[in-house]
Amino acid sequence: MKKEKKKIKIIEGIEKEAGIFNDYALIYDILYQDKNYKKESRFVSELIKQYSLKSPKELKIIDLACGTGQHIIELSKLGYKVEGSDPSEEMIKIAKQKNKETNLNIEYYNESFQTSERIKKKYDVILLLFSSINYLIKYEDITTSLKNFTSLLNEGGILIFDFWNGNAVIRDYFPLKVKRAYKRKKQVIRISETTLDLISQVSNVKFHFIVVDDGIIVNEFDEEHQIRYFFLQEMQDLLQSHGFKVIGSCPFLENSKPVSAYDWNVTFIAKKC
Ligand SMILES: C[S@@+](CC[C@H](N)C(=O)[O-])C[C@H]1O[C@@H](n2cnc3c(N)ncnc32)[C@H](O)[C@@H]1O
Repeated sequence: MKKEKKKIKIIEGIEKEAGIFNDYALIYDILYQDKNYKKESRFVSELIKQYSLKSPKELKIIDLACGTGQHIIELSKLGYKVEGSDPSEEMIKIAKQKNKETNLNIEYYNESFQTSERIKKKYDVILLLFSSINYLIKYEDITTSLKNFTSLLNEGGILIFDFWNGNAVIRDYFPLKVKRAYKRKKQVIRISETTLDLISQVSNVKFHFIVVDDGIIVNEFDEEHQIRYFFLQEMQDLLQSHGFKVIGSCPFLENSKPVSAYDWNVTFIAKKC
């Protein structure tokens, strides 16, 4: 039977962060089953080996927007010791369930970047993958988060993250996209309508999700995501003014290539000074 349509949830600021990526979490792994987490984790591993001062076995790593934990599982298989955190309770629930399925004993926290100081531990590497940093819209959230990252990092520790590059977003964004994914009898359809606010550098993405099981619509919901894009120099300046030095950059998944002005997804490696 068709469920009643849920109200649109708008995320704006820290209090409402848990509002998005909850219903979404339940279908996240179906929607991204074609995402090559193994390859992405190998790319992250190469960067860690290239830029970290410690040997992989000594390193303590945290993925601070871990979602359902897929990068953590793949990095653990490569021998790394990784923990995870995410502000979405549902994402963390799913990540924890995978501990049983994979026989891993990964520690998870339910914190946002802005509240991550509550983790109160020290790491050598912080990961923020799949454009998670772009969910920081306001300057005060960016500044709180970057301060938290420095306090979570050991001396000489590094931050590895990818983000949406403003030049590419403005030139290449699609106002309307449809993604359809299947898993056994389940089907997920996601319609994304995007508008850009060129002044605040925010992409407003209205998602409409339809979840079909065995031919019947079992859930239909909307989420509105505000995703801020950053320009390359702007990101470098933000990091520098918060105690980080950019020590490496490349297009996402292309470690040996220099960044070009229109790469949509750019990876930065920044060291705590
Ligand atoms: C596109 S998903 C990426 C998840 C995961 N890294 C992956 O690659 O599958 C973005 C993630 O960022 C998280 N997120 C959104 N706002 C955040 C914030 N302020 N602090 C930390 N994580 C946030 C969401 O809960 C979501 O899990």
